[in-house]
This record gives sequence, C-alpha cells and structure tokens, in this order.
Amino acid sequence: MMMRVIEDELFPSTPGKVKIERTHAASRQFHRCFASTSTLFLWALLLIALTASYLSFQSFVDTSSRYFTASWGGLHWERQIRASAAVRRDDGIAVLVTGAAGFVGTHVSLALRRRGDGVVGIDNFNAYYDPSLKKARKALLAGHGVFVVDGDINDARLLEKLFDTVPFTHVMHLAAQAGVRYAIENPASYIHSNVAGLVTLLEACKSADPQPAIVWASSSSVYGLNDKVPFSESDRTDRPASLYAATKKAGEEITHIYNHIYGLSITGLRFFTVYGPWGRPDMAYFSFTRNILQGKPITVYRGRDGTDLARDFTYIDDIVKGCVAALDTAEASTGIGKQKRRPAQYRIYNLGNTSPVTVPALVRILERYLKVKARKNMVEMPGNGDVPFTHANISLARAELGYKPTTNLETGLKKFVKWYLSYYGYSRRAGGKHQ
Ligand SMILES: *[C@@H]1O[C@H](CO)[C@@H](O)[C@H](O)[C@H]1NC(C)=O
Repeated sequence: MMMRVIEDELFPSTPGKVKIERTHAASRQFHRCFASTSTLFLWALLLIALTASYLSFQSFVDTSSRYFTASWGGLHWERQIRASAAVRRDDGIAVLVTGAAGFVGTHVSLALRRRGDGVVGIDNFNAYYDPSLKKARKALLAGHGVFVVDGDINDARLLEKLFDTVPFTHVMHLAAQAGVRYAIENPASYIHSNVAGLVTLLEACKSADPQPAIVWASSSSVYGLNDKVPFSESDRTDRPASLYAATKKAGEEITHIYNHIYGLSITGLRFFTVYGPWGRPDMAYFSFTRNILQGKPITVYRGRDGTDLARDFTYIDDIVKGCVAALDTAEASTGIGKQKRRPAQYRIYNLGNTSPVTVPALVRILERYLKVKARKNMVEMPGNGDVPFTHANISLARAELGYKPTTNLETGLKKFVKWYLSYYGYSRRAGGKHQ
C-alpha cells in the first residue's frame, strides 16, 4: 500500500511527459554553461550514467524494502504456523483458511479449532472496511490458538511456502472482495481478489503435495436477474447484476477448470446474506444498527414498483455448520505431479435460510432490540448491482451435507445486537469505544 503511494507520487499520471520536460530544462542549462560540443558530449555521458545508476538504485530500494518489510518468513514464523496447524483429534483435518480475519473466516476457523482440527489463517487486512475490526478478530483467533498470516493470496511465494510448511488436507477459501455497490468505485479490486487471487491460490493447490480439497465461498448473487423462486443450483446463472456477481460466477467456472484438468476436489458454496456477531460493517443490518444508535437516518431501498426488497438472511452459525459439513464430506483431490489420476469431486450448494424477510421488517426487529425508532429515507433502488430479492432452495445441501438452518432473523439479530453493544459500547457518540 505504502509503496504504491510513493510510486504514484514519484510518477504522476504521465511519467513520460515529466521526464522529457526535466531533460529539456537541464540541457538548456548545460548549453549556456558549456558551449563546446565535446564537453557537452562528456556531460551527456555523465548524465546517462547518473540516470542509469539512479534507476538501479531505485530497483534496489524497491526489492530490499520489500525484503525488510515482508510480514512472513523466518523460523519463529514457521513454528507459529506448525503449532497452529497441529491436529488434536483422530481423523482431524488441517485447513488453510483464506480471509481468516473476515466475518465468515473467523467463525469457521474457531469452529474447526474448537473440535481439534489444525487451522492456519491468511488475510491481507485490507482497508475495504475498518481494519481494526479485522485485527480484533485476529486477536480473538490468537486466543484460541489460531495463527493468521498477514499476507495476500496473490503472493504465490507465500502460498508455496505455506504448503511446503504444512501438508494441508483442506483449503477453506473465503478471501474475497465483497460488496456489490463498491464495484462501481473500485472494479479492479474485484478482479484482484476474486479472479487473480483465486487463480494464484488454485495454482498453489494444484502444485501442492498432497493436493488439498477446496471448499470456497461463491455467492447467491450469481442468480442475478433470475426471477424463478426459490433459487435452485440448476437455475441459470448467466445474468449477473453486478461485477461482484460476475467475479463469483467466474470463480465457479475457474474452479471447474482446475477440477477438470488437475483433479482438485472443489465445493462451491453460494452464501445467502450472512449476518451475525463480528459481521461486516458494510452490510445493511450492520450500518442500520450503527446509524439508528447514533440517531442518523438510514436509507431503505425499495423496488421500482414500490415493493420492498427482501433477503434470505442466513445466520452465521448455520453457515458455519454448512461450511464444516462441506469440508467433512469433501473427497480428496485426485491429482499428483500436476496431473489428475481420475475425475475429482465438483459440487455447488446453496447455503441459505429459505425464508426471505423484507428490509422494513428487518428494521422493525432492530428498532425493537435497540429500543430506538429509526429515521428512514425510503429511496427507489438505484440500478447499481442490487437485486430485488433472494430466496434459497436448500434441498441439495440438506440431502448431501445434512445442512439444516435453525436460526430465524429475530433470534439471530438479537445475538448480533448483543454483540454490537458489547463491542462498540452503548455510547451514542460517533460509534462508541472502537471507532
Ligand atoms: C429444489 O432443488 C432441488 C434439487 O436441486 C430440486 O429437485 C427441486 O425441484 C427444487 N425445488 C423447487 C421448489 O424449486
């Protein structure tokens, strides 16, 4: 991040232009002082030599600063990785969890660790939302013996190092650029994490020995403009309504390639609006809670025809059970030496709650638990990526994973509000102790 800023300052929008102007000004100067052509030639040589040494010094600074600021590597680091990956039950699994300091990543890591599996996390702690919440989740994980590597899944060397250090049996891939509307602002970040990062991770998995089985987070957003309810896995998913959805759909196709060519065992989970304690601040239920407590108005979107938006809100504990069941039922990958020996498992499941709730109903529940009336701005939904409703058909996950959500929105939001108040405090001023 820091390097990027410095680079931008050194080389503004049109680097060529800046350099040329500098050279012109310099040569005018030289011309006035040293009129003879031979001295001018010598000075030109000197100038070229200086430029060359400056450039090589720049690249030296670049590599060495990367070396010295690398947040991973070393004996102590490796010991932490191995301790975190240690399996403490019979037939336990060793899981690399990407996006481990994220909302779902933290909960899945804790659940696995609690039952005695080995867990190592990786997270880049980016600033898409308040990194202090991610740091707090990391601390929570550390308290349970889960180590989270500070690194990016686009770092192929880091991934190789991790697989060299630990023979992971499974990868739970949850790292992603989330959010639907943010793609308008920063489209590249979706490609970076959800496409490039995914491919880098799959490359590392395919080359690892043993190859891990992969369970990863797709999204209900792949159903896009689908208006057949409930959404079933066999429904069409070729009309995404956002770049986020398109990158998740791309992920389903990309994982299929790695399954087909290299024998990686793949399970894609289409999450439906996951919420709960330690959740993501960019999600509506979270920002509604913050604004209602601060007495600020909230924006509630409505459909074009005045209908309320509805979401199949799914409580985090139910999602965690689905993730763990997917890991437990995943067959081993079948590749060795980058070649598959036989066809490997490829699965996709909806993980939802099967009972959509409208956004105004969500607000009423929050008002009740927060004991504050919301100031609502009802606004027609802008065409920037949101879909009017989601509703999961979960029969496949029920049949094959034993997935059975048990928490309704009332119960789940009660637990969320309790966590929110304990984490941020009751203060009405600017969000409380953590902000
Ligand atoms: C739900 O999904 C299952 C399996 O994918 C399918 O057989 C069933 O017809 C779907 N149900 C509805 C109501 O769409």
